[in-house]
Amino acid sequence: MKVIICDSKRQIAQKAGDMIIKRIRENPYLVLGLATGSTPIPLYQYLVNNYQNNKVNFENVISFNLDEYLDNNDQMQSYRYFMNTNLFDYINIPIKKTFFPSKHNYKYYDELIKQAGGIDIQILGIGRNGHIGFNEPGTAFDSKTHIVKLTDVTIKDNARFFNSIDDVPCFAVTMGLNTIMQSKEIILIATGKNKATAIKQMLDNYDVNCPASILKNHQNVTVYLDNDAAEFLTKKE
Ligand code: GLP
Repeated sequence: MKVIICDSKRQIAQKAGDMIIKRIRENPYLVLGLATGSTPIPLYQYLVNNYQNNKVNFENVISFNLDEYLDNNDQMQSYRYFMNTNLFDYINIPIKKTFFPSKHNYKYYDELIKQAGGIDIQILGIGRNGHIGFNEPGTAFDSKTHIVKLTDVTIKDNARFFNSIDDVPCFAVTMGLNTIMQSKEIILIATGKNKATAIKQMLDNYDVNCPASILKNHQNVTVYLDNDAAEFLTKKE
C-alpha cells in the first residue's frame, strides 16, 4: 500500500486525476469504479476540466459506482444524481455505460463487472468508522455486492446532505469487500481531521471492524491523504 501525503485537496485531485487520465490514454476502454461523498468532488472537477481542455476522452469508458441508497424518497439525494451533477453531465461518458447497484441488479452486479472486463481503477473514500462503499464494520471480507443496513454513525454523517436526519435512508446497496478487492488498481482518498482515526486504524489493523484494512492485502493500492487525515501517522508509515 503506497501512502502519499499531499499539501492540499487540490494537489490530491491533480495527482489522482493525472493517474486516471494516463490510464485512460493507455486504455480508452478503461473500466472505472467510482465513489460518491464530498472527498472525490475535487477529483471529478479536475477530470471535467481536463475533458473540457481535450486532455481526456471518456467516450469508451465504462463506470460502476460503489453504492446507492435504497428506498430513497428524494431522488436528488441519490448517488446517481450526485454522479450526474458532479461528473457525468460534464464529460462524454455514455450514460448507458454508467452502472449503479440497485435492489434489482445487486445479485448479478459482480457478474456485470466481470463481463465488462473487471474494474481497472477503483476510487474509494473512507467513512469515519473505516467503511468503504457502504461496507460497515463487521462486514465479511469475502462479501459480494449486497444490501446493508446503515449504522447510526453513517446515517449521522450523511445527514448533512439531507433536510433532516429522518430523511436519510436506512438501507443501501454496496459492492462487497471482495468485489472491491477484485479491482486491478485502487485509489483511496481521505481528507480532513475526521478521517485521521480511520486512516490510522486502516494502516495498523487487519480486522473486519475496520473494513478498509482489507486493502492491505491488495497488490496495487495508492492512498492519498492531506496533512489532517495523516495526523496520527508516524514517520515510518
Ligand atoms: C458515504 C459513501 C462512501 C464514502 C463516505 C465518505 O458513506 N458511501 O463511499 O466514502 O460516505 O464520505 P465523505 O467523502 O463525504 O466523507
